[in-house]
Amino acid sequence: MKAFRVCIVGGGSTFTLGFLKSFVRLREAFPLKKLVLFDIDSDRQEPIGKYGEILFKERFPELDFSYTTDIREAYEGMDFVFMQMRAGGLPMRAKDEHIPLSMGLVGQETCGAGGMAYGLRSCVDMIKAVHQIRTYAPEAWILNYSNPAAIVAEALRREFPDDKRILNICDQPENVVRSCSRLLQCSWEDLDPVYFGLNHYGWFTHMYDIRTGEDLLPKIREMVARNGFLPQDAEQRDKSWLDTYGMVKTIMEDFPQFLPNTYDQYYLYPEYKASHLDPDFTRADEVMAGREKRVFGECAEVIREGRLGDKFDEISDAHAEMMIKVAESIAYNKNDRHIMIVENNGAIANMQNDAMVEVVCELGANGPRPMRVGNIPQFYLGLLVNQVSCEKLIVDAYFENSYQKALEAFTLNRLINDGKKARKVLDALIEANKGMWPELK
Ligand code: G6P
Ligand code: MN
Repeated sequence: MKAFRVCIVGGGSTFTLGFLKSFVRLREAFPLKKLVLFDIDSDRQEPIGKYGEILFKERFPELDFSYTTDIREAYEGMDFVFMQMRAGGLPMRAKDEHIPLSMGLVGQETCGAGGMAYGLRSCVDMIKAVHQIRTYAPEAWILNYSNPAAIVAEALRREFPDDKRILNICDQPENVVRSCSRLLQCSWEDLDPVYFGLNHYGWFTHMYDIRTGEDLLPKIREMVARNGFLPQDAEQRDKSWLDTYGMVKTIMEDFPQFLPNTYDQYYLYPEYKASHLDPDFTRADEVMAGREKRVFGECAEVIREGRLGDKFDEISDAHAEMMIKVAESIAYNKNDRHIMIVENNGAIANMQNDAMVEVVCELGANGPRPMRVGNIPQFYLGLLVNQVSCEKLIVDAYFENSYQKALEAFTLNRLINDGKKARKVLDALIEANKGMWPELK
């Protein structure tokens, strides 16, 4: 069996430990030969790199593992590059959330004004990084899950139109499927979903039992109405995530036709969300106080003791597992089904061809083959056409250095929806993103 070389861009991320452990857990299914972590921030990456050295010495000694800030060492000869960079880091995530909230608008890392702010930063950093990767690894599969994935996918589609090995993926649809399996008390892999939307803005139209073909969505609807909705790994989640999943019940009371992605809450209830998010303690603050401390605390402890021993937990990490399974499906031409972000080209029949949409795809050695969902109902079409216009305009703003296009994107966005508010929050975000955004004229 062939073994693979993988680079993770964003080695200093709070999600990286989950990957390191998952590569150990999944070493039979996805044999790794070489793993390199890359980050531009060496101080942040170092403890995670040292943790990796200790982990692999104990549990995967044949793996060639290293961490670096040098792009050539990172990319040369790679089969897969997993991209999880956060342009501007968590401190900028905090600004993306705080600035809109201070004006009474939803503050969220990928939706609304904050999402577009992050989007412009990510366009700059992602396009640069993909060019660097292509210099040293022209054939590598680039699996991008850097956010905001919708905007990044649109920007990469334009900058690299002929590159068929750049894939954009998000774990949230699969997380919702996993939640359904918790409700139904089955394995999530026994569920066969039909899904349409944009990234962080979609719905499940069916949830089939993979063995019998029975559509379990009516049953799920009833169970959500009765019991609410929880993440599969609810016991490991912070309160804000439990609130987010809880909103699925509200959404299904108002719009019962389909099962929503959890992010739909921001678009359907922008005023409610803006008034219920804590402007003094947003998700970024919660991550910095929680997961970031835990991850770097765990690294410090392992480095101090020089061993992991029984600190290697067997709890699966859904996010890392999904990305490794995506790579496995390509590597072995498995044609497994994954929900991915692809150019529409008729997958959603009544939407424009060049929209980057999120649908179920069969994924193999020749890339994703999207499955068609036909026409979607007018209500959903209206929501999505609005948002896809907004995403395209913000990417126009990047490529054309256009303040006007950015203002149009902000005005159109359902989380802002007003020209004067749009200008005010845009101007504040320009200030906050100096040096990280393209200059808008
Ligand atoms: C989900 C989304 C990601 C997002 C993440 C944020 O996994 O699909 O796109 O980045 O949640 O999680 P956090 O715990 O950092 O708020
Ligand atoms: Mn996502």
